[in-house]
Amino acid sequence: MNRVRTIGLLTSGGDAPGMNAAIRGVVRCAVNNGIKVLGFEKGYNGLLDNEYREMDKRSVSDIVDRGGTILFTARSKEFFDKEGRAKAIEVLKKNSVDALVVLGGDGTFRGAKELYDQCNGEINVIGIPATIDLDIACTEYTIGFDTAINTAMEGVDRIRDTSTSHERCSIVEVMGRNAGYIAAYTGISTGAEDIIIPENNEYGDINKIITRVRIANKKGKKHYIIINAEGIGHSYEMANMIETITGIETRATILGHLQRGGSPTCKDRVYASIMGCKAVEVLIEGKKNRLIVYRNGEFTDVDINVGLAEKKPFPQYFIRTAVELESK
Ligand code: F6P
Repeated sequence: MNRVRTIGLLTSGGDAPGMNAAIRGVVRCAVNNGIKVLGFEKGYNGLLDNEYREMDKRSVSDIVDRGGTILFTARSKEFFDKEGRAKAIEVLKKNSVDALVVLGGDGTFRGAKELYDQCNGEINVIGIPATIDLDIACTEYTIGFDTAINTAMEGVDRIRDTSTSHERCSIVEVMGRNAGYIAAYTGISTGAEDIIIPENNEYGDINKIITRVRIANKKGKKHYIIINAEGIGHSYEMANMIETITGIETRATILGHLQRGGSPTCKDRVYASIMGCKAVEVLIEGKKNRLIVYRNGEFTDVDINVGLAEKKPFPQYFIRTAVELESK
């Protein structure tokens, strides 16, 4: 088994609160085990531009509580071409990097897997799931999700105050790309009247929503909160339609990128730290081409190809619970 001497580390795709805690975990655990860490900046672009800094234990001081990523991030187009990856492999070899640790989502892992295959496994790769969307099938936890849902929840609590004062209907659009996890958690935690997610078309039927808004209004309800997932979109048009048809004042708010920022929650700091250390442990054990995951209450690792091939059906209990909680 070849000993790992130098790790390349990068963050790619959308940033997620807790990435810094994971970076700290990787760096501290690696350096404590005599492994050098090169932090590449701006995602895979840093590999293409040979833009890195060597990271010692002090370089990750005072970051566990900070949102964003000290390594910066990007969605690199060039890296997704074979020629781009060849350039990246050359840079990694030139810097004697034995293994690359990447933090990001599905796209980031696909890039890492392609790099591993293209260099015939000469450079090892390890992925750490970091995305606010929770849309990686092989893991029940992704870094940043917990902070994002807490931020979205607080946002909706505030909107509810003003919505009630004006006796309005409010549509709040939350992030999640094509997944409805942020919407489901935000909706249930704020007692929203409706939750519209891409995974359940029926519940999001606008005509049924309009009927429910009318009924609630007749019963004297002082607000009507609808959480709409980004994957559905069209919040302004929906608001317009509800107001025109029901005559009830309706406002739409798109929470947007504020959900991606801010100091990570305790859970994100702790889980991200564990995943960062775990990535280094897996490398030291000599495992190759792995994803660090959380499943069945444990931190473990799976083969990247296996992990990427997994499918995650949206848990039906979210939908059942949301329906059960309606005040009929
Ligand atoms: O994947 C995280 C995420 O915030 C998604 O929820 C959203 O669809 C996307 O990134 C937004 O990307 P960008 O910051 O490039 O606009």
